[in-house]
Amino acid sequence: MRRSMSQVLVLNGPNLNLLGRREPGTYGAATLADVEAMLADQAATAGLGIDFFQSNHEGALVDRVQATFEDGTRAAIINPGALTHTSVALRDAFLAVSLPFVEVHLSNIHARESFRHHSYLSDVAMGTIVGLGPLGYSLALTAVAARLATDA
Ligand code: DQA
Repeated sequence: MRRSMSQVLVLNGPNLNLLGRREPGTYGAATLADVEAMLADQAATAGLGIDFFQSNHEGALVDRVQATFEDGTRAAIINPGALTHTSVALRDAFLAVSLPFVEVHLSNIHARESFRHHSYLSDVAMGTIVGLGPLGYSLALTAVAARLATDA
């Protein structure tokens, strides 16, 4: 059955609410609202329902991933922020609900401090996109749309 809204969930973790103001040399000038508006347009063009959630709290993100068990979400895009490098709980939540997802990072985490090189999510993601700024979210949505079209 095809459900109308929230087929695709876009999650952003800690400090991504500050996009545009936060270390603009690393993360760029676009705000999270700008990124979400771009994705909403792209999803509408693709005929996909999309939902957005940002939190600075690990448990809130785990709760939102768990909720996808019930709410019709078919795939996710996530920039987990610093939780990328620390959160077994977020990894386990995705595995628990078997939700396919693309991991996105605005910066090239592999060109930065060594503690950013490891992700607890990458090996269970559909794919990862790093270092391309906001375009990475758009490319992730293209990938998710292709996956959902195949699975339909
Ligand atoms: C980030 C990279 C992480 O290492 C960092 O903690 C962030 C943002 C990125 O988008 O480049 O908060 O996920």
